[in-house]
Amino acid sequence: MIYTLTFNPALDYAVYPTTLVLGKTNRSQTERIDFGGKGINVSYVLHQLGEPTTALGFVAGFTGRALCDMLQEAGVRCDFVRLPGGMTRINVKIKSDAETEINASGPDIPADALETLYGKLDAMVAGDTLLLAGSVPTTLPRDVYETICARITGRGIRLAVDAEGTLLQSVLKYHPFVIKPNRDELSAIAGRELTEDADIEAAARVLQAAGACNVLVSLGADGAMLLDETGRVHRAPAVGGKPVNTVGAGDSMVAGFLSGVRQGYDYALRLGIAAGSATATSLTLATREEIERLL
Ligand SMILES: Nc1ncnc2c1ncn2[C@@H]1O[C@H](COP(=O)(O)OP(=O)(O)OP(=O)(O)O)[C@@H](O)[C@H]1O
Ligand SMILES: [Mg+2]
Repeated sequence: MIYTLTFNPALDYAVYPTTLVLGKTNRSQTERIDFGGKGINVSYVLHQLGEPTTALGFVAGFTGRALCDMLQEAGVRCDFVRLPGGMTRINVKIKSDAETEINASGPDIPADALETLYGKLDAMVAGDTLLLAGSVPTTLPRDVYETICARITGRGIRLAVDAEGTLLQSVLKYHPFVIKPNRDELSAIAGRELTEDADIEAAARVLQAAGACNVLVSLGADGAMLLDETGRVHRAPAVGGKPVNTVGAGDSMVAGFLSGVRQGYDYALRLGIAAGSATATSLTLATREEIERLL
């Protein structure tokens, strides 16, 4: 089972006014609500690929119930901790001439709710995978990722991490099975702009030396590079047509990689790219049909 963790999931409310005038009443032509959160995206795409997955995290209020309903309708299993107060956030995306976003802060996560989550992690078994993705809400202890890693280490559980900067660096000592920085994130850690493949590979090797088994570097429209645990480099270009909505492309790539890795690293990279590109070149997250077509 592949478990994903989303501390602060969201409903993304997109409105489409032709123009946006501040301080006036604006009318939207159409609206949509999608679930949001990196771990949830990964679970959604894993489910598309037929991979058993459970989304973990925290939800609250009526928006939290709506989120669970939406995931259930999509067939994604979830086992969220329900918080006693507050509500799962709604992020507002105003898609006019320009795109304006208002991201909400989300509910407080009290210490006992965190303990309830830890209890769920304690029930994971050897062979399971845990994906940690995204930043840590400011209301949680800053070292919560490390606490979680320490808790699952030595139990035969695979760790996958998609996070930035010091947060990513702080978990390398727990030997994550895979980390997935994008070009900007890897550049920030390396302290210089990485453009050539040779520079990207060198920076990936530094993260491997620091503890990561597999380093998957996503390069947007340029595809991705995988430095596998044996030290071999795999490189493949992106696929598909014009980008339509790249939100969640990286999450989709993580799902494709985790689903494909049983069939070898070359295949895992290709399935990761197919899933990432399927998301980037369509309006919504990757569907099974689109991933298979691009693969
Ligand atoms: N413009 C594009 N055209 C085709 N495929 C793309 C495009 N952008 C991204 N992808 C695909 O998605 C994968 C991941 O993209 P990217 O490097 O942008 O991830 P990311 O920056 O982590 O994204 P996220 O916004 O989800 O965090 C790429 O390796 C590629 O396969
Ligand atoms: Mg990303």
